[in-house]
Amino acid sequence: MISDDELIDLAKNARRWAHSPYSNFSVGAALLSSDGRVFTGCNVENSTYGLSMCAERVAIFKAVSEGAQEISRVAVVTDHDHIAPPCGCCRQMIWEFSTADTEVVLANLSGDTRKYQITELLPEAFDERYLEGVG
Ligand code: THU
Repeated sequence: MISDDELIDLAKNARRWAHSPYSNFSVGAALLSSDGRVFTGCNVENSTYGLSMCAERVAIFKAVSEGAQEISRVAVVTDHDHIAPPCGCCRQMIWEFSTADTEVVLANLSGDTRKYQITELLPEAFDERYLEGVG
């Protein structure tokens, strides 16, 4: 099983591909799926700003589009003194493909790390349960 440090290293590596000329805030993500595969992502910005995409969601789209539907752990790396947590959109997208045990490992380039359960980052999440009986 891949360690947190190894997953962080893969996220750091993915961060190097970030296209972030507008924010100058580069993010890397590495997602471990329940079937043992790793998918990486970086943020990809656009001159229209609004089309920009976060690193976590790039990794999730890569995973889901290749048949990996369950996130075991995801590492996210930024270069900020205070470890940056995932944005609200990314928390919701992580939740969509989470289990009760899904972990989110955060790190910066100074070597600070922090680990959360997705349930801590997104309490009272909206999900498919609320769609039951609708329609
Ligand atoms: N960003 C991410 O990649 N992940 C997050 O969870 C927060 C924000 C990116 C989006 C944008 O390219 C830059 O960081 C600044 O917001």
